[in-house]
Amino acid sequence: MPAIHDIEDLRRLARRRVPRMFYDYADSGSWTESTYRANELAFKSILLRQRVARNIEHRSLETRMAGIDVSMPVALAPTGLTGMQHADGEILAARAAEAFGVRFTLSTMSICSLEDVAAHTSGPFWFQLYVMRDRAFMESLIDRARAAGCDALVLTLDLQILGVRHKDAKNGLSAPPRLTPATLLHLLTRPRWCAGMLATRRHGFGNIVGHVEGVENMASLAAWTAQQFDPRLSWDDIEWVKRRWGGKLILKGILDAEDARHALASGADALIVSNHGGRQLDGAPSSVAALPAIVDAVGTGIEVWLDGGIRCGQDVLKAVALGARGTMIGRAFLYGLGALGQAGVDKALQIIARELDLSMAFCGHTDIRAVGRDILVPGSIPR
Ligand SMILES: Cc1cc2nc3c(=O)[nH]c(=O)nc-3n(C[C@H](O)[C@H](O)[C@H](O)COP(=O)(O)O)c2cc1C
Repeated sequence: MPAIHDIEDLRRLARRRVPRMFYDYADSGSWTESTYRANELAFKSILLRQRVARNIEHRSLETRMAGIDVSMPVALAPTGLTGMQHADGEILAARAAEAFGVRFTLSTMSICSLEDVAAHTSGPFWFQLYVMRDRAFMESLIDRARAAGCDALVLTLDLQILGVRHKDAKNGLSAPPRLTPATLLHLLTRPRWCAGMLATRRHGFGNIVGHVEGVENMASLAAWTAQQFDPRLSWDDIEWVKRRWGGKLILKGILDAEDARHALASGADALIVSNHGGRQLDGAPSSVAALPAIVDAVGTGIEVWLDGGIRCGQDVLKAVALGARGTMIGRAFLYGLGALGQAGVDKALQIIARELDLSMAFCGHTDIRAVGRDILVPGSIPR
């Protein structure tokens, strides 16, 4: 195995091993990618206060997210097409998360289905849902998630219309990839990936194909998906999902204090401050810049989590210091998956946990649950 020290090492290896169309699908943002870049950059301008002589021998990263015990305040974010970064990707990532004591979130647009992930893991995971025009299909997904043992539902609110990602258009993104002379030639340079894909039968959108009337193959799926994301989404729909699901509900894609107050009023268990990893509204603030105002707006009435731009444990520490109870990582685990499969996701989690643990200690703390804004250099806190 090549020497891996940080998430950037995993990213470089994934770039060599994953076909360009899928690597680019992960490593890109919408339009000019300014929000995508801002997510990472904003963390760098927040400064940590180094403290000394505070007895930092015994330390704990354990906490609870939505009432669920986790080994650190990190979960794997829902990402579509994860099974195209690596064969059987969702199952491998879910297994790595389970072994590490953190939660995996399965996207509606996954390759492996809810049932398949449940059959190949032994602990619960979370399911991410979009509000779609076909409410009967949503109901069936909710029922399937419950039957699969999912112990929280993550409802994504910021993708009712699609941001434009130029790289996907240029690459002609599709799953499985359309075989043209150019893609075939490129795939020949990714023999591990090809071998994995030839050895698995999981190539389509497992939650959808065969579960919706008239959607039996990739061509009919494309037409169905294009008109499914429901732009009429309003807070009444969220109330409906909450009642239909009846379990822990997490609202994903909040970037504004006013929307955060609606989320609080909805009675959801947590909200995720997120701009979809810079893949939707280009020009929106970074998620960490939006975090403090949202924390101030909702107080302790609802758990606030954050995702977007987390590439090291120090980023997690800064988010927690600003009031996030938990965080989610998207690309950080996808790079690990593309680079090394399950071992790569495990490596990504190990790297982040170690960086988080040591950085917390450098700031003079031993319990992640006690970390607050006082560990940040005051002038560097976004407002
Ligand atoms: C390749 C990719 C696919 C994604 N697909 C979904 C999805 O299906 N559902 C969803 O709610 N969010 C999706 N997201 C957004 C992530 O859940 C998360 O908000 C984002 O990745 C966080 O930013 P980070 O990648 O910088 O950690 C996707 C992100 C990426 C990178």
